[in-house]
Amino acid sequence: MLFFVLMLAAAAVAYDRSYDSARDHILDFKERTNESIGVLTTETGAPVSYKEASITLNKPLILNAHFMESINHIVTKNIPERIVHAKGTGAFGTFTVTHDFTDVCMADFLSEVGKQTKIAVRFSTTTGEKGTSDLNRDIRGFSVKFYTNDGNFDLVGINIPMFFYKDPHNFRSSVQGRRRNPSSNLMDIHTSWDFLSLLPESLNTFLTVFSDRSIPVSYSNMRGHAIHTYQVVNKYGESSFCRFNCEPTAGFKTLTAQEAKKLSSADPDYLTRDLYRLIADGDYPCWTLNAQVLNMTDVHKMGPDVFDATKQISQKLFPPVPIGKFCLNRNAKNFFAEVEQMAFCPGNVVKGILGAPDKLYEARVLAYRAAQVHRLGGNFNKIPVNCPFQTRTLTYNRDGVSPVGDNEGDAPNYYPNSFNGPEPYSPEFEPSLIQIEETKADNFEQSRELYAEDMTEDERVRLVNNLVESLAEVTDIVRVSLLKTFGKIHPDLRQRVAQGLNMTTCD
Ligand code: HEM
Ligand SMILES: *[C@@H]1O[C@H](CO)[C@@H](O)[C@H](O)[C@H]1NC(C)=O
Ligand SMILES: *[C@@H]1O[C@H](CO)[C@@H](O)[C@H](O)[C@H]1NC(C)=O
Repeated sequence: MLFFVLMLAAAAVAYDRSYDSARDHILDFKERTNESIGVLTTETGAPVSYKEASITLNKPLILNAHFMESINHIVTKNIPERIVHAKGTGAFGTFTVTHDFTDVCMADFLSEVGKQTKIAVRFSTTTGEKGTSDLNRDIRGFSVKFYTNDGNFDLVGINIPMFFYKDPHNFRSSVQGRRRNPSSNLMDIHTSWDFLSLLPESLNTFLTVFSDRSIPVSYSNMRGHAIHTYQVVNKYGESSFCRFNCEPTAGFKTLTAQEAKKLSSADPDYLTRDLYRLIADGDYPCWTLNAQVLNMTDVHKMGPDVFDATKQISQKLFPPVPIGKFCLNRNAKNFFAEVEQMAFCPGNVVKGILGAPDKLYEARVLAYRAAQVHRLGGNFNKIPVNCPFQTRTLTYNRDGVSPVGDNEGDAPNYYPNSFNGPEPYSPEFEPSLIQIEETKADNFEQSRELYAEDMTEDERVRLVNNLVESLAEVTDIVRVSLLKTFGKIHPDLRQRVAQGLNMTTCD
């Protein structure tokens, strides 16, 4: 017995108890407040007595308002998690214009160098559910909401410069095929790879996911790519086309498979903790916002490929130009209120930014709003973190589930009306999105360039190792079809993966 006690004591001293801003937030709260912040009350404001709060045994429960409220609230407090990108974290900061961009885009928040706009940012993994590891091998989300004077502008991007399909029909299958088996409720390595092997354009993205360039050391080292080619206009009504990107000031840094596994097993919330700490400790992470810019002539010359989400636009032909810089300097005070309830939508654009002409974009505009009505309720844009607080909203929409805010008071609730209700404005010109003709995706050329030219030999070796490890238990039907697709990217890739799996490539 004595031996056991000594062992415990020995284990205890091994822990580092020096101040840690992420772990010790609650200690800061105590120090900041130095006494109880007030009398406990019911939800309707009645003070709760010591007896009501602590002694429920042998009393009629239904008469104890405090008990009834607390039990009802805890059993109903869960809301649906995001259907994709459920695991994530967020923070707040400011965007500052550093370069004149007015010849390209008339958006008010880009109107002059030095102009500042408040922002909210959320980082996430795609496939993992809310409780999964930050460090899973996955595509990662990078969403930015700009609270501009003209309403909110959302850039809802990822950490990889292209997406894995362009036909929005693939969304449902990419979610269901790459998740839990409907019978065993276990993640299914066969269906995951089957879906990708039958969608060859996905491999341009997944070669990157399985490469060294995938799992960030820290969210402050992660790039963001808005993917779609946005049509924007300047004050003369001239259109340009932009691929927006975020480049981390702290540099682009990633983890190897081994490093990620080790960190993840010690702390599945590794990236969440890291971001919280950086901001709490005043080590504010920053990014530059840049864009590859094409004019109408460029677009006609380059063809519809520049709107293909599965492809990059050549950085050599269209080098990114800097627009501004943003830093994150505030953690959420309440995660659920300020991060879980964040609602981004690629359709949230502002004057001067028209959106993107491709079908993937069109589908997203639809899907995010529907998802958020389901997840947060019909008035999700009135939740403070989503509310365009730099402007006044006058919508004619009324009522519905809370929050309703002032519900637009006593103003007329129908349009047109003769009683001074809000009126649409008359812009000088009303540009519209160009029409594009989309064809089936074919991006083997870019995957080949990525594999054969961009990657070093070391990177190729680690890529193949990561693929082989993931494919180790996958059934042959899927491996054979995947090897065929790898062969179209590069015979060497096919050869090496086959070798790693002990398979012959002459089928
Ligand atoms: C057909 C194509 C797509 C559909 C239908 C779709 C749908 C969705 C839905 C329903 C959500 C959850 C929204 C919520 O509950 O708040 C979501 C989240 C997200 N999607 Fe997509 N998505 C598509 C393609 C893309 C693409 C191309 C990107 C990257 C450019 C992307 C990046 C994200 C990100 C970053 C989030 C998380 C946003 C957050 O942090 O709250 N998605 N998507
Ligand atoms: C904390 O306690 C000190 C000393 O009693 C007092 O002066 C101070 O106002 C208190 N602070 C708060 C936030 O209550
Ligand atoms: C479009 O940009 C190209 C350079 O990418 C330039 O040579 C051309 O003059 C521009 N065309 C117009 C109409 O501005």
